[in-house]
Amino acid sequence: MLLKNQPTITLDPIAGSMGVQISGVDLSRPLDDGVFGEIRQALLDYQVILFHDQVLEPEHCEAFATRFGPLVPYPFVKGLPGHPGIFEIRKEPDERRNFGGNWHTDMSFTETPPLGTMLYAREVPTRGGDTLLTSLYLAWEMLSDGMKELLRDMQAEYSAALKHAGGRAAVMNSTRFTVENLDRSEEATFHPIVRTHPETGRLALYVSGSHLTRFADMTEEESAPLLDYLRTHATRPEFTCRIRYRPGSLVLWDNRCTQHLALNDYHGERRVMHRLTIGSSDRPH
Ligand code: SIN
Repeated sequence: MLLKNQPTITLDPIAGSMGVQISGVDLSRPLDDGVFGEIRQALLDYQVILFHDQVLEPEHCEAFATRFGPLVPYPFVKGLPGHPGIFEIRKEPDERRNFGGNWHTDMSFTETPPLGTMLYAREVPTRGGDTLLTSLYLAWEMLSDGMKELLRDMQAEYSAALKHAGGRAAVMNSTRFTVENLDRSEEATFHPIVRTHPETGRLALYVSGSHLTRFADMTEEESAPLLDYLRTHATRPEFTCRIRYRPGSLVLWDNRCTQHLALNDYHGERRVMHRLTIGSSDRPH
């Protein structure tokens, strides 16, 4: 007999920094509020949640993702027919470029960047094709008091522009995507470089490697030394975790406190993921 308030899911942390594997859940079935509450809490506690061995159609992924928030289309790639909130990330055996191969946090060039990103693994290489993630909470917490004081009130510019190797660059260099909305490809906005997570209240160093261009009221040249230091600092190995996929793995990360990179170490093999981006109404503050 289940005791009241007894957890119904099993959590196995996947690294010392962040990330947890959740088992005991079939995401193709509707989740009751209690189980969903535990999953949502796990996302807040661990920043990245991972489920293996899920057999999911696009409708199942949409139903799970929209428990967290509305889907937002990725601006530069057309969604699946009938599923505009899902797009396919595909790398074929004869391709060399991959999508998302530089450190970034998704759509940080928009005024209200997304809450999270979900990937469902449909086809994975026999080895490689992992996603690396880094905790921007740890990146903030491990800075010196002096550096924290310097950064605390600074704003930085986040850009989608090609020269900064952001989303458009990755898309344009692949032949496999239906590219759209290129009028938004120079989109850029300013956010605090230190942001407060709207749900946990924790501070995160909002480094989005390939989208960051400069600090407000400074030139790119003036900003470069400190931004380069922060980019390097934010990816220290002890802040990271690594997601290893099997067909049927589903991962969801919190874009408000992580950045990530898709490893491109599987040339000659195919990798196909469905990606869903979950919107937020919170401007970083
Ligand atoms: C992305 O940046 O959304 C792609 C991540 C991945 O394919 O591992």
